[in-house]
Amino acid sequence: MEPCHLPLPASMIVRLFGVFVALLLPEFVFCMTRNYTFNIVQHNVTRLCHTKSIVSINGRFPGPRIVAREGDQLLVKVVNHVSNNMTIHWHGIRQIRSGWADGPAYVTQCPIQTGQAYTYNFTITGQRGTLFWHAHISWMRATLYGPIIILPKRNESYPFKKPYKEVPIIFGEWWNADPEAVINQALQTGGGPNVSDAYTINGFPGPLYNCSSKDTFRLKVKPGKTYMLRLINAAMNDELFFSIANHTVIIVEADAVYIKPFQTDVVMITPGQTTNVLLKTKPYYPNATFLMAARPYFTGQGTFDNSTVAGILEYEHPLNHTFNMKKMVFKPTLPPLNATTLVANFTRKFRSLNNPNFTASVPQTVDKQFYFTLGLGSSPCPKNTTCQGPNGTKFAASVNNVSFALPTTALLQAYITKKSNGVYTTDFPTNPPSTFNYTGTPPNNTLVSNATRLVALPFNTSVELVLQDTSILGAENHPLHLHGFNFFVVGQGFGNYNPTQDPANFNLVDPVERNTFGVPAGGWVAIRFLADNPGVWFMHCHFDVHTSWGLRMAWIVMDGPLPSQKLPPPPSDLPEC
Ligand code: C2O
Repeated sequence: MEPCHLPLPASMIVRLFGVFVALLLPEFVFCMTRNYTFNIVQHNVTRLCHTKSIVSINGRFPGPRIVAREGDQLLVKVVNHVSNNMTIHWHGIRQIRSGWADGPAYVTQCPIQTGQAYTYNFTITGQRGTLFWHAHISWMRATLYGPIIILPKRNESYPFKKPYKEVPIIFGEWWNADPEAVINQALQTGGGPNVSDAYTINGFPGPLYNCSSKDTFRLKVKPGKTYMLRLINAAMNDELFFSIANHTVIIVEADAVYIKPFQTDVVMITPGQTTNVLLKTKPYYPNATFLMAARPYFTGQGTFDNSTVAGILEYEHPLNHTFNMKKMVFKPTLPPLNATTLVANFTRKFRSLNNPNFTASVPQTVDKQFYFTLGLGSSPCPKNTTCQGPNGTKFAASVNNVSFALPTTALLQAYITKKSNGVYTTDFPTNPPSTFNYTGTPPNNTLVSNATRLVALPFNTSVELVLQDTSILGAENHPLHLHGFNFFVVGQGFGNYNPTQDPANFNLVDPVERNTFGVPAGGWVAIRFLADNPGVWFMHCHFDVHTSWGLRMAWIVMDGPLPSQKLPPPPSDLPEC
């Protein structure tokens, strides 16, 4: 490790007893450059009595942890040894003036091709908590994901008592089939993709699946201690309820931002969300084990993986005796699959800490307002083929009825080199192209348009964006993820957003700050963010099936006038298409 180079002067010169002395700021003393090498390889994994070759990082599944402190610089060299094209995204990392390291394929970079390497170079600024990294091309993230653990700066502490131990709990989805084959087939036939065979906790499906009890994640704890669980939903297409039998947790952080702590016995976590919870263990050895289980929160209409993953919370006996006595096993009660009201009440409990140390800088004024519908739709079936989507069409998904087409080159490169012609336009609709009762009876025509349309924002634009779910082919909760920014969730509700009445209820004081938030099924959310990070930033549903169908778009944030407000030129090893 070596000291990292700060863009701003890190030393202060002061005059002491007539002598000039250089004072080093703590950032300079403690900030580090951390190097990682990610070799992308194939390796064999067996789950559910099914052995298959998966693509992984360094032969590990889930992938390796990235551990850093706030303020550290990361250099992750990704070397692609497999036949698939690859990119890695550092989900939730703000990437301030380092958009070249963000990772979504054909948005900020061309893929890393077989035999090639690319070093992602970024600094973690103003974030602490849990995030995760994942592949960001096609459905490769099914097996390519891992935690990002951001510790406070060396001289800083948590705004809560330091936990005894910290444990990442990463939810995933397991397919016996090859996920690439699953999505490719679905896109070809136009039908819904096959669903996963299991959910996983830290790569293990657990005892509730056939041929799986040996593949169970076990958390061994001591009585009377506080553990911090770093929850990450890396599943592909499913929001999850999570609960630990006979235990409650206190949520203290969401998407690497501290929140006002609150207690709950069930957590709902969408794909793309991360959250830290404190688990206080029982004061005495309970002579029992407790399942921690997760299963979907499902609001859609299609088929889904309706199975339950479980891990085991196990108390170590204080005297370290091995008791052969059969222990009781407690199971948690998880909410009904479509518990939409419960979810709305749960998500409303998240509030920014907003104290002098951790302020919530909610934009109080708005320069530009946007109203985006999001939901499913259809595309015509090509001539002389049969399609398995709605009424013989192909499934599609859209934002303001635009099903976003990815280019064959990277948007950020096209933008920086001023070669947008034939790649993209900047006329993304500010409002839905046609007005209808978005959450009522859907219109007869559900056809989407296909285009690569972006919004261009001048530097420092204060944006208010209302995301409106539609009931086309079924109202559904959509976990919307924005790259490059955190946004404040200033309002949410069911039905259609009412621009004259709803803003009166907005929370502009301590709204939660996140990078991913579930747009309620048959409802809306209003978010605000300050466009102070130049680059091209992807925004999409974190259900991979919806992203694949086009529920995605991108924002261009232009450079500001000052040198510190401009995106630096691309790194020399940036992959070519
Ligand atoms: Cu976690 Cu664009 O994704």
